[in-house]
Amino acid sequence: MLPVPQLEDLGPLDGRSVLVRVDFNVPLAGGGPGAVAEIADDLRMRAALPTLRWLQKQGATVTACTHLGRPQDSADPRFSVEPVRRRLAELAPDAKLLENLRFDAGETADDPAFVDRLVEGHDAYVNDAFGASHRAHASIVGPPRRLPSAAGRLLAREVEVLGGLRESPRRPFVAVLGGAKVSDKLGVIDALLETVDSLVIGGAMCFTFLKAQGHSVGASLCEDSMVERCRELLEGETPIHLPYDLTALGPGGVPGDPGAGGDVRQIGANVGDGWMGVDIGPGSAAAFGDVIHEAGTVLWNGPMGVFEDPRFGGGTGAVAAAMAETRAFTVVGGGDSAAAARRFGVDRDMDHVSTGGGASLELIEKGDLPGLAALRGASNAT
Ligand code: 3PG
Repeated sequence: MLPVPQLEDLGPLDGRSVLVRVDFNVPLAGGGPGAVAEIADDLRMRAALPTLRWLQKQGATVTACTHLGRPQDSADPRFSVEPVRRRLAELAPDAKLLENLRFDAGETADDPAFVDRLVEGHDAYVNDAFGASHRAHASIVGPPRRLPSAAGRLLAREVEVLGGLRESPRRPFVAVLGGAKVSDKLGVIDALLETVDSLVIGGAMCFTFLKAQGHSVGASLCEDSMVERCRELLEGETPIHLPYDLTALGPGGVPGDPGAGGDVRQIGANVGDGWMGVDIGPGSAAAFGDVIHEAGTVLWNGPMGVFEDPRFGGGTGAVAAAMAETRAFTVVGGGDSAAAARRFGVDRDMDHVSTGGGASLELIEKGDLPGLAALRGASNAT
């Protein structure tokens, strides 16, 4: 992976003002009329602290900026960074935080005038927003055209780990993928099949593969338009492990809502009419665990079932446990899988939990991101 400038490449920072793009797009809870929203999970904030503290230790004044949610290009109190600002004051006193970047249409449009306003008064720029570095937005790609720039510690570590998976993984290298749609992950599946020694597939996307193998999928989520493509992938050289048993929910049941009722059964790989596969079964969970135990490197992205519903958390819990026990180098992609690792209490046992969802998949797929390319174009980049 091509190098990007590091914090040390910014030169002396004592008395300087540094603009730091962070990804503090954190989940909020509560809020609403008269209520104050609280941060439900501050992982992304704590992950940026080494950079913020390092800059402050060098004598720099730190101004952080982030997006939060997806406001529609104008100020919207539901997306105010105020709760984030309060938490930041506890974690990194003296670091300032600008208001939500996406309150200005110039952010997503990469408007040069917005970039000018953003960098005004600053002497250097740091990108530590790995989770947003796949967006060619003003705050990500603009400042490196104007200021000496560098990757923060979090961004640098994400690039080292995820880039390393593409280049020199300890073998056997196994990727465990879940999630709803094959079409969303086709790019990353194609890229992984070039690198991994085997692919393990669970989550709702397994039904499109199972259908390609000739199994009935009942009312399970299935992308019919992708069945032929899945058949081709299954005929390729890299082994793809699919579940051979499932946990299924009967007619009338609603995944995620135990109160709605519906029978739950352990079944084989064929799902009957009106039934829905909602998790991999215990046999497959054990078999996937064996593959993880024997691996040298494991990348896990996407839960095996609807783990938020206790009836369908067994497969994801088993994968989480195997990830915690294996001697392999373990990497968890962001988003749902990071949430699952935390839910099953194994996040601290992983070698790396990415703070990026879409960004981690895009980096694995393409080997680069707009935010990284921008840093390489900065005046201080070698
Ligand atoms: C994320 O949560 O994945 C990042 O903060 C990016 O957010 P976005 O998908 O709204 O650009």
